[in-house]
Amino acid sequence: MKMALLHTKDALEPPVDPVIGQLDAALKSGGHEVTNLVVGDSVQPLVSSLTENRPDIVFNIAESFAGKSALESNVAALLNLLDLRYTGSSPAGLILAGDKTLTKKVLTFHSILTAKFATVFRGAVDWAGEIEFPLILKPPQEDGSLGITQKSIVHDVRELLETISSLQEEFQGPVLAEEFIDGREFYVGVLGNSDVKAFPIMEMDFTGYPEGRPKIASWAAKWGDEGDEKGAEFEGTRSIFPTNVSEELATRMQKVAVDAFQALRLRDYARVDLRVNAKEEIYVIEVNPNCYLEQTAEFASAAGKAGIDYNTLINRIVELANARYSR
Ligand SMILES: Nc1ncnc2c1ncn2[C@@H]1O[C@H](COP(=O)(O)OP(=O)(O)O)[C@@H](O)[C@H]1O
Ligand SMILES: [Mg+2]
Repeated sequence: MKMALLHTKDALEPPVDPVIGQLDAALKSGGHEVTNLVVGDSVQPLVSSLTENRPDIVFNIAESFAGKSALESNVAALLNLLDLRYTGSSPAGLILAGDKTLTKKVLTFHSILTAKFATVFRGAVDWAGEIEFPLILKPPQEDGSLGITQKSIVHDVRELLETISSLQEEFQGPVLAEEFIDGREFYVGVLGNSDVKAFPIMEMDFTGYPEGRPKIASWAAKWGDEGDEKGAEFEGTRSIFPTNVSEELATRMQKVAVDAFQALRLRDYARVDLRVNAKEEIYVIEVNPNCYLEQTAEFASAAGKAGIDYNTLINRIVELANARYSR
């Protein structure tokens, strides 16, 4: 098939994101003719490329438009308007999962546990649950731990007000305050549509995390820190296949992941991030419909553990998408 691999331009900025080459090779191994297509800052060139050289299907990993995560769903919406087939979730799914507050509202309706929360926008309270400190504060429409640092965790009113005001200033948007779930963190990859399967669970191992800090996958943990403690959170975290999780808990986590995927009307694939407290209650932290498909990242690693190698996985996503359209 004629395929366009659609991604943002920052994936091509040094250091070039390895996922582009990996996907390109995997799709070619599936017999597809692959063209790279970049979502830039304006829509016209994109529309021209897509209409002048119409692909049979778009492999869509564009997570933003013009650098804005909040516009992610509009890229998929554009593909819909151009009547193109594409992999991954629809605009509706991307909007629901792309907004952590909306996600929580939908999951709660389906009796899927998420941390209790409050939201504030321009000083006004939008919703205030019966929440207790400590809380974690975040911009609800960002990703990649943008805006998440040790200061995101607040223990009293003074810290709460300070962090709300700095987040509002930085992101010019609402702030989501959630109860901090103290416990282990897990990632569950899911794949499928009519028959959705969860991969083996992965855990964010915080064993090497700096002493005395609340254990979170902060910006610094994911990408490395430029500050004094260079790399301490980054060096102290890694994803592993845990060996000390009961079969019962693992199965429950997989069920929660599949339920969340379906509740948010996602398609083809996603990665669900969970936290589990001491009572083994499972909380959904967020759902990533457009999760990172790099070969060594959680989603593809977990697929590998399930016996699905990288090329098979990527081409399975294409088959799943095609099957939706040919129904
Ligand atoms: N309610 C919470 N309780 C405990 N830790 C949390 C909570 N929410 C987020 N975190 C921590 O912050 C990290 C990033 O938060 P997340 O909501 O997944 O944002 P992003 O979309 O940027 O990945 C999580 O991986 C987790 O370590
Ligand atoms: Mg996350």
